Amino acid sequence: MMQLTIHDIAFGGKGVGRSDGLVVFVPFVIPGETVNVDLKRKKKNYAEANLVSVETASPDRAIPQCPYFGRCGGCAYQHIEYPAQLAIKAGQVEQTLRRVGKQTEVPMRPIIPSSKPYGYRNRIRVHVIEGVIGFYALDSNNLLDIEQCPIASGEVNERLAGLRARRMPDGDYTLSEQRKKGFFEQTNNDVAQKMLDLVGTLLTPGGSLVDAYCGAGFFAQHLRERFDQVVGIEENEYAVTHAQSHAAPNERYLAGDVGEHLARVLTETGETSLILDPPAAGVTESVIQAILDSRPREVIYVSCNPGTLARDLARLTPVYRLESVTPLDMFPQTAEIEVATHLILRD
Ligand SMILES: C[S@@+](CC[C@H](N)C(=O)[O-])C[C@H]1O[C@@H](n2cnc3c(N)ncnc32)[C@H](O)[C@@H]1O
Repeated sequence: MMQLTIHDIAFGGKGVGRSDGLVVFVPFVIPGETVNVDLKRKKKNYAEANLVSVETASPDRAIPQCPYFGRCGGCAYQHIEYPAQLAIKAGQVEQTLRRVGKQTEVPMRPIIPSSKPYGYRNRIRVHVIEGVIGFYALDSNNLLDIEQCPIASGEVNERLAGLRARRMPDGDYTLSEQRKKGFFEQTNNDVAQKMLDLVGTLLTPGGSLVDAYCGAGFFAQHLRERFDQVVGIEENEYAVTHAQSHAAPNERYLAGDVGEHLARVLTETGETSLILDPPAAGVTESVIQAILDSRPREVIYVSCNPGTLARDLARLTPVYRLESVTPLDMFPQTAEIEVATHLILRD
């Protein structure tokens, strides 16, 4: 047992304290708090601890709305008032771009909040094992039986109740407001719309839009009227078929790897605005190289992982000026962060 003062929150949501020079990570705490913790695991450079009690509470401490909070592996921040959650996430983005991305100037814009801090998820994925229906417990492979998920919408929770009323075979089940289509779709409708509006205001109209990692054309189809031509690149064939079936005459979609197609597409399009919205791993070296060779006039890089975003921006910013960085709170109560960055080709 030891007492710590928390001075930061690391990615993933754990608080950071120090004891005798040792960095200690502890969940469910807030910067500024003094807490009593129980050492769980000690490594060479850091330790992990469980929270035992809060000695001095932060004014930002909130009452979690979920009875499973603290045991469920899904949420990390229900104990923090929503405005303070937003400030923590915005600070993490800025610090990561400075430390990992080696950016001396980080032109942060205010974080875009979710109008619903709870009840925002339009789908959840639950697991069924021998009659237990729910999510995996924190830091564990044990399944936690869940009756309701307060970050999911009412409709999704009705589907969960329906699933629980039946005897379901073991497996994973996606419970969604919409019919499952077999490709990536945004999870928080309100923040997804705000992200579309933001990207729409950032981009220069006219010329070509290349939407790389386009899914079913989420950005491309919203923005197509502002460009002479739109090209989407996506490896999921269901998404490409869906996008193509809703395409306007100035819009086309390529099925395949962005790393393989981007260089050619960029040489075929002139006056190009490029959107990158890759998975958490970020983009590959061939994508970076295609951009550095063809130099589209601007890049919107949307990321769900500030670490890989920072790594990729460090490669692009010798040629591109980082114009703006806007975090979006797509997943309130969780440690997940979404960021939209705008890069403009230097003179
Ligand atoms: C974060 S999602 C974004 C999708 C879309 N922009 C949207 O907002 O709905 C990333 C997308 O990249 C696709 N993807 C992943 N790796 C890829 C690759 N190497 N080449 C092309 N698409 C890829 C995934 O199938 C997924 O649809």
